[in-house]
Amino acid sequence: RTVYVNGSYVAEQDAKISIFDRGFLFGDAIYEVTAVLNGRLVDNPGHLARLERSCGELGLVLPIRQDQLVAIQHKLIDINQLQEGSVYIQLSRGTDGDRDFHFPQPSVQATLVVFTQARKLVDNSQARNGIRVVTLDDIRWQRRDIKVVALLAACLAKQQAQSLGADDAFLVAEDGTITEGSSCNAFIIDKQGHIITRPLGRDLLHGITRRALLELADQQGIVLEERPFTREEAYQAAEAFITSATSFVWPVTHIDGHRLGDGAPGPMTRRLQQLYHAVAA
Ligand code: PDD
Repeated sequence: RTVYVNGSYVAEQDAKISIFDRGFLFGDAIYEVTAVLNGRLVDNPGHLARLERSCGELGLVLPIRQDQLVAIQHKLIDINQLQEGSVYIQLSRGTDGDRDFHFPQPSVQATLVVFTQARKLVDNSQARNGIRVVTLDDIRWQRRDIKVVALLAACLAKQQAQSLGADDAFLVAEDGTITEGSSCNAFIIDKQGHIITRPLGRDLLHGITRRALLELADQQGIVLEERPFTREEAYQAAEAFITSATSFVWPVTHIDGHRLGDGAPGPMTRRLQQLYHAVAA
């Protein structure tokens, strides 16, 4: 696989960054993941707009223009002949060449890394059969709207979910409401067929797939309720699902062992999944 590092296209084993890079030492870095389907980027303008927003929130400066970044994404898709998967972009604050909490001199350029990952997005067992989730305390920091690479809490949640025999975790805020999944947005569908998902704020990532999905649902005339929902409400839901650039739409069939509906992916979820697959293709 060929990857991009700070202006160069190199074989992945030849890609190098400093051990003092702030992304490595402090998690002082942001990222984006854009899906690739049939060799084309999905919802990429939304991902790049969010990257710009993350930059603004943290005072990071992209060392190249956005159109140049898009050219890098396309070039890697071409070189690596990627049909289905994702393109990962990471921008860290670089380094002055030592470990120091203070920001480096303004002349220090951010470290930019871009690579592709092959992965089946449309046809995979989670998309077909749905996933089981468990709820876990949301122990992350208070700016979850910024897409930072400091993902230890997400790794711990995934690992714990796996050790409990589940596929993923829904994270629960101190007030008992679900914020989102460990690396996805969470939705439930109530018995009236309304879609319920947490409103945007600082306590969750503003998912690009979430927004696209809500637009599709709205076009279908489905009632949307953007409001917090509790774990107990989720247990009683008719259906549930998650969205992200690496899963598109995955049905959720069980929450903490509670079966939703008949325990199979729900019909509304299935319809939305098919609609999203159609627009992404
Ligand atoms: N994760 N919430 C969290 C905490 C996420 O990490 C993600 C994405 C989402 C969904 O956002 P989007 O629809 O824009 O992908 C929600 C990416 C895919 C990842 O970390 O790999």
